[in-house]
Amino acid sequence: MTKAAKTIRQIVGDVTLDAALVLGSGLSALGDDLKDKVAIPFSELKGFPSGGVSGHGRDLLIGTMGGKRLAILTGRQHYYEHGNPAAMRPALETLAELGTKTLLLTNSAGSLDRANGPGELMLIGDHINFSGLNPLIGEPTDRRFVNMTGAYDAELRAKSHEIASQLGIALKEGVYIWYSGPSFETPAEIQMAIRLGGDAVGMSTVPEVILARMLGLKVWACSSITNMGAGLSDEQISHEHTKIMAVQGAEKLRKLIPALVEAI
Ligand code: HPA
Repeated sequence: MTKAAKTIRQIVGDVTLDAALVLGSGLSALGDDLKDKVAIPFSELKGFPSGGVSGHGRDLLIGTMGGKRLAILTGRQHYYEHGNPAAMRPALETLAELGTKTLLLTNSAGSLDRANGPGELMLIGDHINFSGLNPLIGEPTDRRFVNMTGAYDAELRAKSHEIASQLGIALKEGVYIWYSGPSFETPAEIQMAIRLGGDAVGMSTVPEVILARMLGLKVWACSSITNMGAGLSDEQISHEHTKIMAVQGAEKLRKLIPALVEAI
């Protein structure tokens, strides 16, 4: 058992998690919806995200949502912070050891689809790892040969579409392209990403999906669209703007995710 898993057990007792949720930039409001929660600072959990990006939280929350035991990481570690694509591995291994079967990932992203603009959601159906990086480089066992077909669980996607239509939330599904960041893309890179078949671009999530599939977790991921990709609109792209715009998507995710967790 990881050191962090032992620490968590010491604090919350013999908990078995059903699912875990990772919150992207500006999406921390989702943590407010967890009931009977205990907050553990990442700094007390060996291998959990250190440093941090503004707009992200720094706690692991454990509580209940929709009748399920849920852990929420109020922030994540990105490749661009330290140059390690496997930075989320200890946290994800810990959550898996504590029983997590399903990993729910959220992020803020730029849209490549003019019909799905800021304030909307995009359910991730597949991804393109444009960074060329991989969190499993250096993994010495055959576990590294992860099958990435159907990585985004088809049943969970179907359930989210059902729930979204019941709640009157528009939910497009598309392909997420991972750029390492932290600089935003150029307009030419955005044109390339469109030609490659992307629907949204962002700087996270993909390494977590690869790790989670190695760990045998079911994966669900959704982007909150905060801006159009560079050059597709006149708005100025910035991290400040991302954090402000994420609030609209967060409100939708706040309705969608509890219903999805209940249905897991
Ligand atoms: N590009 C990359 N990451 C992002 C963007 C973007 O336009 N918006 C929010 N995160």
